Amino acid sequence: MIRVTVITDKLGRPLQDLRISVIDRCNFRCTYCMPKEIFGRDFVFMPREQLLSFEEIERLAAIFIDLGVKKIRLTGGEPLLRRDLPVLIEKLMSIEGLEDIGLTTNGSLLGHMAEKLKKAGLKRVNVSLDALDENLFKSINDSGVGPDRVLKGIQKAKEVGLEVKVNMVVKKGMNDKEVVPMAKYFKEQGITLRYIEFMDVGQSNGWDFSSVVTKKEIFEQLSQHFDMVPVDPDYIGEVAKRYQYVGSRTEVGFITSVSESFCSTCTRARIAADGKMYTCLFAENGFDFKALLRSDKSDVEVRNEIIKIWNNRTDRYSDERTEESARTKKKIEMSYIGG
Ligand code: GTP
Ligand code: 5AD
Ligand code: SF4
Ligand code: SF4
Repeated sequence: MIRVTVITDKLGRPLQDLRISVIDRCNFRCTYCMPKEIFGRDFVFMPREQLLSFEEIERLAAIFIDLGVKKIRLTGGEPLLRRDLPVLIEKLMSIEGLEDIGLTTNGSLLGHMAEKLKKAGLKRVNVSLDALDENLFKSINDSGVGPDRVLKGIQKAKEVGLEVKVNMVVKKGMNDKEVVPMAKYFKEQGITLRYIEFMDVGQSNGWDFSSVVTKKEIFEQLSQHFDMVPVDPDYIGEVAKRYQYVGSRTEVGFITSVSESFCSTCTRARIAADGKMYTCLFAENGFDFKALLRSDKSDVEVRNEIIKIWNNRTDRYSDERTEESARTKKKIEMSYIGG
């Protein structure tokens, strides 16, 4: 293969990160992501044969890595529901040029899986946890799982040597009371907590501006309890704005897709579980790489297709967001694209 180190899109942004969703199912029904009214018993998830196989994911990932991708993040739905996930991680880790592999999970199965994931070569897990209060957490995930199980998963992940960060989506009236208790708990634990502004992804979560708690509001709450100083980004395009608690080495972060968009440095491509490639979290349409991989196309042909798509990319949804676009665009669901 001819080596192209950097390919850029129409706004000059290089392709550097690949987020791969390995399954569209989840064992939680978070009210803001997979509400039971829509993702109920009758909801039809992807049949197995529609998911990319591990071999297909590996082949596609290798082509992306050859095109400059350094970092892969595995997502879902809930990625730990995908059978034998450590086998995939091991395969991906063996591809030359890949520097980092992470996983975004709801943590409910992490206690069982952490050791196997670490052995397979995983470095980092980002665990979603929206509340410490037992009843509140159960009412958010709507599936009877308490915070203890997730906290045990986090503990286990740390014990086996995985780097752990916690993600908390903050939604007005849902869990804004948990902002300070979560900060206190994870500061004590020495674990980075990142607050995520509630986003208008998909069509099912009933989003509107009034349910967003902005970074500014969260920061003001935190400031009443802690002194924080900003930390420089580790790399251009880092998603979270990071701070450090004064007198501690622990960090806290904010993912500000709504109040301070970060599209100008967005280097992420996404592959959904059915092999469609998306160039934005808020996209309406994807490109079907499964069809391409299952045809007789060569790696070079697949690679040329990726280059063409990336070269034509103009996405900057969060920069352009309006009440109208948030409501009327037919966006794909978060559980399908993986966040
Ligand atoms: P790190 O490599 O640990 O920084 O991972 P990450 O923060 O990129 O991944 P994670 O899955 O933990 O994402 C945290 C939140 O940021 C999720 O809610 C994602 O949906 C959101 N996010 C990640 N990338 C983007 C993006 O390109 N655009 C927007 N709008 N949100 C993003
Ligand atoms: N807005 C912001 N974050 C969301 N997530 C799921 N839905 C939304 C939303 N509408 C979060 C999950 C997880 C990460 C992948 O995305 O809670 O932490
Ligand atoms: Fe909740 Fe994540 Fe599952 Fe969505 S994918 S229902 S946010 S655990
Ligand atoms: Fe990237 Fe789209 Fe998110 Fe902007 S809104 S940062 S272009 S994924």
